[in-house]
Amino acid sequence: MNYDPTVEFARHLDAADPLRPFRDRFALPRDADGKPQVYLCGHSLGLMPLAARALVLEELDDWARLAVLGHEHAKRPWIPYHENLRDGLANLTGARPTEVVAMSSLTVNLHLLLAAFYHPSGERRRILIEAGAFSSDRHAVASQIAWRGLDPREALVELTPAAGADTISERSIEAYLGEHGGKVALVLWPGVQYRTGQAFDLGRIAQAAHRAGCMAGFDLAHSIGNMPHALHDIEADFAVWCSYKYLNAGPGAIGGCFVHQRHDRPHLAGWWGHEAATRFRMGPEFHPEAGAAGWQISNPPILSAAPLIASLALFEQATLPRLRQKSVALTGYLEYLLDRLAPEVVLITPRALEARGCQLSVRVTGPQGRGRRVFETLTSLGVIGDWREPDTIRLAPIPLYNSFTDVWRGAEALARALRNQP
Ligand SMILES: Cc1ncc(COP(=O)(O)O)c(C=O)c1O
Repeated sequence: MNYDPTVEFARHLDAADPLRPFRDRFALPRDADGKPQVYLCGHSLGLMPLAARALVLEELDDWARLAVLGHEHAKRPWIPYHENLRDGLANLTGARPTEVVAMSSLTVNLHLLLAAFYHPSGERRRILIEAGAFSSDRHAVASQIAWRGLDPREALVELTPAAGADTISERSIEAYLGEHGGKVALVLWPGVQYRTGQAFDLGRIAQAAHRAGCMAGFDLAHSIGNMPHALHDIEADFAVWCSYKYLNAGPGAIGGCFVHQRHDRPHLAGWWGHEAATRFRMGPEFHPEAGAAGWQISNPPILSAAPLIASLALFEQATLPRLRQKSVALTGYLEYLLDRLAPEVVLITPRALEARGCQLSVRVTGPQGRGRRVFETLTSLGVIGDWREPDTIRLAPIPLYNSFTDVWRGAEALARALRNQP
């Protein structure tokens, strides 16, 4: 598309946007004076779908009205509540409905699946992750290794970008596994890297892992609802995610996981993974529900799952291919404007469309502390992005609720903030 750096052009793009009505289905944040803000932070916490309020209130009302009987007689009975989320999550992850389940939270799910899928033995003891992985993922992996009596300094391998690069090529993952794969038990990789915004070809990574005899697990925190996925077809072994970023389910919302249907692993058991038909017989034997539902451990947090129903309905209406198409245009427009209005920032995120989602990460150069000051000025101008030490601002236009005018305002404000903070 040929862009133009004027706000009129942004308005023209908005007028032609078929997904524009979805913006009205979200609560758009305002500053202390009630002025609307430009929210470019859906990669951290998605905005509230307006329908979420009614769904949560329905659960509170059913709790008030029915108390324990709500388990079976609530408008959406609580016992099979996860089933309300199943098809929407399967659609977003490219999974069979039986391969996904909403449950627990991201790092806890990661621990559960590492416990089930990481089986170091003999020479094959390593877990391969990316250098600079999200701290919680690294903590989970290192502690899983240590928990098995191994030394994370030996068994945790962090693949670094090539000298001078910010991002890691799939080729270098393949090369590592080609050379050392016999020593690797499991590869854990993000769908989109949280700091750089780089999106990975998960099919290629799964294939390289499997070729080397390793398990392939994925953290989709920054890619679910952002990029299309095909977890079933690429034969990923497992995946985990949270729902508070691109899935707009609210702070601390219920997480989710995928387990490929070919796996019949020993479950870390809890009563909610027991087959529903006989769960309440409370017998001593564990008979898991078929598929990912068998991995549930506790009964689900209804109040943190209800908003996800509202959000998944919007994804279903907007459809992922249309959202992706708009996302490519929105983020491309942001890239175009940054190149023209703020050429001094360094784009860390790849420019290739297939190697990124919504998010662009930009590095602010200059004297120490300047990046942080630029970011604070940007916030004071009413643009909400976020800051990652030591020098990076992350901005993500979200196709469900951001407009091209938001993107223009964000880029223009960043240019002003850079001028104000020489
Ligand atoms: C990549 C990644 N891993 C782990 C986490 C931690 O998530 P939680 O607190 O839900 O376990 C986050 C949170 O933002 C994340 O982005």
